[in-house]
Amino acid sequence: MCGIVGYVGPRDATPILLDGLQRLEYRGYDSAGIAVLSPDGDLQITKRAGKLANLKAAVAVAEPAGTMGIGHTRWATHGRPNDDNAHPHSDCEGAVSVIHNGIIENYAELRDELRAKGHTFRSETDTEVLAHLIEDQLKSTGGDLTKAVRLTLGRVTGSYAIGVVSRRHPGELVGARCNVPLIAGVGEGEQFLASDIPAVLKHTRKVIMIEEGEVVHLVPDRITVMDLAGRTIAREPLTIEWDAESAEKGGYPHFVLKEIHEQPDAVRRALTGRVIERAGARDLRLAELDALKASGALDRIQRVAIMACGTSAYAGLVAKYAIERWARLPVEVNIASEYRYGDPVVGPDVLCVAITQSGETADTLAATRMARELGAPVIAITNAVGSAITRASDAVLYLQAGPEIGVVATKTFVTTTTILYLLGLYLGRHRGTLVADELPRTLAALQAVPNQMARILDRADSGEDNIASVARRLATCHSFMFIGRGISYPIALEGALKLKEISYIHAEGYPAGELKHGPIALLDPDTPLLAVAPTSRTYDKVISNIQEVRARDARVVAVATEGDTNIHRHADDVFFVPEAPEMLSPLLTVVPLQLLAYHAAVARGCNVDQPRNLAKSVTVE
Ligand code: G6P
Repeated sequence: MCGIVGYVGPRDATPILLDGLQRLEYRGYDSAGIAVLSPDGDLQITKRAGKLANLKAAVAVAEPAGTMGIGHTRWATHGRPNDDNAHPHSDCEGAVSVIHNGIIENYAELRDELRAKGHTFRSETDTEVLAHLIEDQLKSTGGDLTKAVRLTLGRVTGSYAIGVVSRRHPGELVGARCNVPLIAGVGEGEQFLASDIPAVLKHTRKVIMIEEGEVVHLVPDRITVMDLAGRTIAREPLTIEWDAESAEKGGYPHFVLKEIHEQPDAVRRALTGRVIERAGARDLRLAELDALKASGALDRIQRVAIMACGTSAYAGLVAKYAIERWARLPVEVNIASEYRYGDPVVGPDVLCVAITQSGETADTLAATRMARELGAPVIAITNAVGSAITRASDAVLYLQAGPEIGVVATKTFVTTTTILYLLGLYLGRHRGTLVADELPRTLAALQAVPNQMARILDRADSGEDNIASVARRLATCHSFMFIGRGISYPIALEGALKLKEISYIHAEGYPAGELKHGPIALLDPDTPLLAVAPTSRTYDKVISNIQEVRARDARVVAVATEGDTNIHRHADDVFFVPEAPEMLSPLLTVVPLQLLAYHAAVARGCNVDQPRNLAKSVTVE
């Protein structure tokens, strides 16, 4: 997945590149490197295995100086995470430098061919073939860098976002995109290239989205977008509303904690313009789906197929309960990496809902494209404007959550779930399956959620709910079991995933009723049970399941509804959430579990914002 950044202009490039990499470190942190072109034509490459801090230390010694360059932060795919495999990579002469996010699938054949021609390789990466191919093409194109890059890309298969600089092309930066993200930042007398918007926000809010199969040429006073054949493409910049501040930590010790606290606002934003007042009553408007509706595609639907990975798949599982209830349509939740290698039964009567906050998850993209090719209409739910999934779909519902920098999904989970609720209500209204006042009643309850979330956060911050101290106490346990029934079951899964991802404590999520069919054997005093037990149709059943566990001396923590005076008899610790309709309770019950995972991770000294082995945007299959 990796992050790439580039700069060309009048300023000292090194600090700009390092700052951009800092903001992209969530995309991978196995190694980092920069190439800076000095005024006398020296291409100075500094790269180090490990985190960006290692590169910064090396840069402080090497002091590369120049007003243009490229930078890279790596999540290793081909070749170990060592100095040699760190990007940028160069051609034989060290005249061309390349950074790359993605995978060149035919790199082995290309490397053999280039070796046979006398090229020498210095790394185990797939990326290095690009530098050598460009070296060859520069000879045949009379030194035209953009053309050499275009011809090179014509020879490769796979996925890429690249940045290229050359010693012989001062003041020129070339980028290109295929299946992984790339944007250009438009400055005044200076231009930027990056994998993601936060990397350039400090310098400009004007951004050009580079599309699939496009090449971009940047010189200080101009950006030119073209296709692989060299035909110029007109593209207006977008203006990004987020400010640099909102991509910073805003006073919190970690992005994850900041993003957990941003959830009330994020849910409010997700509802903005969608829950409206019409004739004095609340109404639902999803204008993004108008065209799909007008096409008649929604009238043919017999089933919904959700495609997603990780936390997005758990949001999809919440939606299964809601859509089945409100729209009376069967919903299947597909783990995207499994879907495409199965033999799925899908066609125009299946509504495909692709959920990916990053919009770039390769597995989700592949599964969605497959369903679409087989005729399914596709609605994408994503936080990333202009991301790949938006081009693989017929309609897009944006989360409007603002940037999420922490690798684990928190505010994108609650906003995804919110949008899925709106979609469920929309489909229910369209099909005439909602009961009486269900629509205005549920919309009102959704609008109450942000304040209810804020109450949970306030109580945690003031210590009224002792989530942090419970987390610290339990942080030494080796394993956790999370249980929930009905719509709380996906929250048990998400609670367990959060704990695994950021605290590295083993955790499993189970439907509460299934506990006795096997997993109960795992429980002992060192394996706490976390029961998601808000007021619901199945509350009594969950209490019975808790009893089965208490009889075996396991410690019990419950998430319950305010006013539940009974729960203290069954649990050692309780985190309370305000009362909400059962269907919407996941938006509240997930919050204490996010905080529990966060505080456990801090207590264990884990890197909360960048957990080991994970990356925010997984653009490889
Ligand atoms: C990665 C992240 C997970 C995330 C998953 C899906 O594996 O580490 O936290 O849930 O990708 O991401 P998406 O962007 O498709 O929602």
